[in-house]
Amino acid sequence: MKMSSTKKLVIKGPTTLNGTVDIAGAKNSALPILAASLLTQDKVILRNIPKLSDIISMLESLCFLDCKICLNDDESISIDSDQCKEKPIYEKLTEKTRASILLLGPLLAKFGEATIALPGGCKIGERPIDYHISSLKKLGAEIHIKNNIVHASAPNGLKGNTIHLAKPSVGATENIIMAASLAKGVTQVHNFAKEPEIHDLVDFLNKMGAKIKLLDDSCIEITGVNALHGCQHKIIGDRLEAGTYLIAAAATRGSVTTTNVNPNHLTCVLDKLKESGANITTTANSISLHMPNQPRAISVTTMPFPGFPTDLQAQWLAFNIIAQGNSKVIDTIYENRISHVTELEKLGAHLTLKQNEISADGSDLLQGSDVRATDIRASASLIIAGLTAKGETHIHNTSFIDRGYVSLEEKLRKIGAIINRKREYAKAS
Ligand code: UD1
Repeated sequence: MKMSSTKKLVIKGPTTLNGTVDIAGAKNSALPILAASLLTQDKVILRNIPKLSDIISMLESLCFLDCKICLNDDESISIDSDQCKEKPIYEKLTEKTRASILLLGPLLAKFGEATIALPGGCKIGERPIDYHISSLKKLGAEIHIKNNIVHASAPNGLKGNTIHLAKPSVGATENIIMAASLAKGVTQVHNFAKEPEIHDLVDFLNKMGAKIKLLDDSCIEITGVNALHGCQHKIIGDRLEAGTYLIAAAATRGSVTTTNVNPNHLTCVLDKLKESGANITTTANSISLHMPNQPRAISVTTMPFPGFPTDLQAQWLAFNIIAQGNSKVIDTIYENRISHVTELEKLGAHLTLKQNEISADGSDLLQGSDVRATDIRASASLIIAGLTAKGETHIHNTSFIDRGYVSLEEKLRKIGAIINRKREYAKAS
């Protein structure tokens, strides 16, 4: 009989989290910045790149394009794109992460041509790329999608233009900024995304010699240059990883400090945590939380930055379940980011789902059970629930966790969690 093996996380609860967590570099900054390193012939040195499987997928694509990548002794990564060639990037390289679409803008700007399979990634609702395509077309590219493969060309180079995004899409903003950096003339993007990761990408590109500036709150301007040069850059701390640990600390009535994260990147979440009863203190790059009593449940509606991030929606729901009072969590970014709901119910949560609106009764005493992780942040919500639940929670399908959280078990164990990863075997299908 053939056997296959996967891994599961086993958490013994309830526990109270206490201590300090060092936050890794932001995945959502590192991914576009790695893609943008294609835009120069020179060497780029990046620090604070998180060791995550999504990052490995992006590095694999860069290697496939013949970039030279070196992991240095000081843990920085050097990328040399001098010998980089344009080649069709097929599904095997794009199926694991949606961020693969971020290669489209840089390849088009650098080579005047790009062929790339449509991206994969978390199944959290419709995730079209129409804004990416229509915006690059506005910069002069011809783009066709056939058999799930995007063919783009701009034989005479890209030309600056004015673009109005219907929604402030993070990825589309990044693709436009990267492509427009090497386009002829000026590009203005109205209703651009303002997430801290966008600002990190802009800082990086400006260090490379790009000319990008904010005109006002709703418009960013990129003046194209002929060439970009090498630079060194340190990726910002991951606000979503920090937010996850702070919400976990609050749910377990603990005291946790997260370091290497800018509190200004989490203002909305910290305000909600304070409303729920947490004491919070901050320095320029750390956040400390103490939850003295049972928290109050607080309703949240996800919004583009600076609103409550969709990437902390699932974790907040896990928090509201054990907090006092009724609450609602509404996701306005994704219509179908709800796969954690049925799994949380298996732990004893009382939830009502109406489209993208999840109501929680609150004050539920959770009981450990077998649950299944279905995307990065859903995994995090199950971990938070497992930390508060009585008995053992077994979370199957750990691959998602490694896409978003560096050394998760080590970090959680250091602050008091009883958590282990175990291999499990099943009859191969
Ligand atoms: C990025 C983040 C992801 C986060 C999301 C929203 C990275 C690598 N990922 O994803 O973690 O959850 O921002 O904060 O940074 N949309 C369209 N057409 C498009 C593009 C987007 O309709 O061409 C819609 C999406 O379906 C979604 C919304 O716009 O409803 C926001 O998506 P977007 O900001 O583009 O998310 P990503 O860049 O994919």
